[in-house]
Amino acid sequence: MQIPFLDLSSQTNQVAAAFLEKVESLTKSNSFIGGLPVTQFEEDFANYCGTAHCVALNSGTDGLRLGLLAAGAEASRTVITSPFTFIATAEAISQTCKLDLADVDFETFTLSPSAVAERLTSRTQGILPVHIFGLASEMPELQRLAAERGLFVLEDACQAHGASVVGTRVGGSGIGAAFSFYPSKNLSAFGDAGAFTTNDAEIAEKVRVLRNHGQTGPYYHELEGFNSRMDTFQAAVLGLKLRFLDQWNNRRREIARVYRERLGRIPDVRFQRIPEGYEHVYHVFALLVGDSRDRLASHLADQGIDTRVIYPTPIHLMPAYKHLGYQPGDFPNSERISREVLCLPMYPGLTDPEVEFVASEVSAFFGGK
Ligand SMILES: Cc1ncc(COP(=O)(O)O)c(C=O)c1O
Repeated sequence: MQIPFLDLSSQTNQVAAAFLEKVESLTKSNSFIGGLPVTQFEEDFANYCGTAHCVALNSGTDGLRLGLLAAGAEASRTVITSPFTFIATAEAISQTCKLDLADVDFETFTLSPSAVAERLTSRTQGILPVHIFGLASEMPELQRLAAERGLFVLEDACQAHGASVVGTRVGGSGIGAAFSFYPSKNLSAFGDAGAFTTNDAEIAEKVRVLRNHGQTGPYYHELEGFNSRMDTFQAAVLGLKLRFLDQWNNRRREIARVYRERLGRIPDVRFQRIPEGYEHVYHVFALLVGDSRDRLASHLADQGIDTRVIYPTPIHLMPAYKHLGYQPGDFPNSERISREVLCLPMYPGLTDPEVEFVASEVSAFFGGK
């Protein structure tokens, strides 16, 4: 059996015909930037997240970058994020202000509130938790910390469409949240796209102005901004796919349930711990497997099962951030997760026999049935 790490075809097939019709009508009307599909998607995605506003963008990276600018991030002050994330999180901070890091919790893989508390200085201006792999960070604790110190909280929800913290979906608990619709994401475009959600009308308006070169009237620019707009075709496909997002996330949870049940008793295997009341949306399904990672990956590859190591190098040990002077050992939980993590195939189109096959091959590797 050949099982790719990710196969988008079943999701694509569910919307392809309707999308092609929309492409035809949008092409006939020469509507390529902005327009009804974009404003409609903004309204629908805000409703989905339970936020008052959504600003459609070109990428999740710009969602973070514009969010930081709209929050009034000062260039000389720091924002604390997790070392166990995709580099875009760190880039958005370091290209706007100063990057600072605090370790993750070893069990949840998300930013540890106690590590953040220890890291705070008078230069700290914000906290940027990452809802890694589809599990929300410990928002109530981080919010409390931020409120005590007068800091802003900006969520990196790029991997967590629909994830929730005790009944509240991610996207609106801090000053706002960035989402990515990169093709591999739980809700994905047919190219690059992203969004910024918030309950704060002023911040939404700032992001809206920043995404379009700071324009506030026809060829009138209140400030310098960026070209961070979403294409109309991408908004059209996102609108179609949004209708399936809950169904697809439920299927991801069902697959995760089988993996957890079948592999949960293997002493050498650990999963991300889900705090009470949190809903994981399993952008990816990660195992920690001690020092067996490479041997397990090659055993699975021999059986036709494709896996990924996400992320093999934490942010502080990337050559890109060498100048910040971090050393191995600075963030031991992130480093250990990076050394031990292996991600199994996870997408709504996986069939039950495929899930069963993956689980039994992982189990067989560890000497089980
Ligand atoms: C955690 C995280 N943050 C930010 C981004 C950036 O999103 P985009 O690729 O849409 O710019 C991604 C996307 O891969 C991500 O996974």
